[in-house]
Amino acid sequence: MPATRKNSRQWFERSEQSLVEGVNSPSRGAAVFSPGPIFLERGQGSHVWDADGNEYVDFLMSFGALIQGHAHPRLVEVVSQTMAQGSHFAAATSAEVDAAERLRGMVPSAEVVRFTNTGSEATMLALRLARAHTGRTKFLKFEGHYHGWYDPYLLNAHSHAPERLGPPENPARMPDSEGIPAATFDDVVLAPWNDISALERVMKQHGTDLAAVITEPIMANMGCILPRDGYLQRLRSLTQQYGALLILDEVVTGFRYAPGGCQEYYGITPDISTFGKALGGGFPVGAVAGPRSILDRMRWSEHMVLHYGTFNGHRLTMRVVAANLDLLSADGAYQKLHAVGNAAIAGLREVFRRHRMKAIVQGFGPMFQIYFTGREAIHDYRDYCSYVDTGLYSRFIHRLLDQGIYMTPSNGLHWIISTAHTEKDVAVLIEAADRACAGLE
Ligand SMILES: Cc1ncc(COP(=O)(O)O)c(C=O)c1O
Repeated sequence: MPATRKNSRQWFERSEQSLVEGVNSPSRGAAVFSPGPIFLERGQGSHVWDADGNEYVDFLMSFGALIQGHAHPRLVEVVSQTMAQGSHFAAATSAEVDAAERLRGMVPSAEVVRFTNTGSEATMLALRLARAHTGRTKFLKFEGHYHGWYDPYLLNAHSHAPERLGPPENPARMPDSEGIPAATFDDVVLAPWNDISALERVMKQHGTDLAAVITEPIMANMGCILPRDGYLQRLRSLTQQYGALLILDEVVTGFRYAPGGCQEYYGITPDISTFGKALGGGFPVGAVAGPRSILDRMRWSEHMVLHYGTFNGHRLTMRVVAANLDLLSADGAYQKLHAVGNAAIAGLREVFRRHRMKAIVQGFGPMFQIYFTGREAIHDYRDYCSYVDTGLYSRFIHRLLDQGIYMTPSNGLHWIISTAHTEKDVAVLIEAADRACAGLE
């Protein structure tokens, strides 16, 4: 149990003088962590240490970016060697070729690749490519899906009180940010996810106007919501039928569930895929992948799809990407991610059963989320907004933080297992969860 967070409190007082809310992304600040953020200073494997020297098992793992855990020795070696020769040239390098070849080797739909610096940049580029390729401007996004902070995606990505949602066949349209011209959303068709009849209806009405449908394969920004059997396959066939491209946003799921991400796991072939997070093993990177017929639109010409970027294909990052994908391609990497994750899920379910708590653990293997709910499953955004006690979850996580488990109190995120997590980490989590449940209400 952390004895004190005195230093974190002092850093927070200082950081508020220079940074908005004392952080660089609101989800890391006092709006989520009470009474303020815990300042992390060091990480090794599956563990992190805060500014007061308190040790935690980390299950947030940098929002899923750290698939190899903290300071993996091979990545440390690659970074030091590469850095000694120069970090980045903004020129053609063998590093980006090595990274792209490995990505193509793992993701069958990736005939060619373009690297970006973040997941947001990747989804931004994917939509521009889809619009250029189809000559259409509208696109469909689903309620509760987050695809980064690009203007047109910021519609109903946040949760809201159920009475504000409107009917599923005509959802209330709620921008997630100020500063976006209302007209931006004229091109956005909004629909509920995971409901085949709703999808068939909306595609019948708008399908031939759509440049693309963008979806997360597993809804990862309302926790961890799995697609119903056959949903993604029906989405694939309907997009083909209406000539809209399917953009599979694998920024969270890519390189996590299987070498080829969820598209491999669920057996679907998207037109365009976007990646980020786990691809970079802790370094900032994103990628757009797909067939040459679509990505070649970026070739230099008067009619090209423009995608520039000083830091695209950043040499240091590309070397890390290649080494990270080599580690993930090694025998047993995915078996371990799944086995350790499934052990954590089973252990947590048993804790909640023993404490007679109305709680479910949803997801499988390397990524999952806990919902305090009376429902047997959470299937979509509306279920999440209506039936999940996010306040109770926050209190539960604050108790875990006090017992050396690092996780965000935001229910919209998810628990992440890296290759560095062990059975011992799972045992520590289960004991802490058991204590956290006592008297929790
Ligand atoms: C599904 C999904 N797409 C895109 C993004 C944006 O990625 P980034 O934060 O790297 O810009 C995120 C970030 O959480 C995400 O969850």
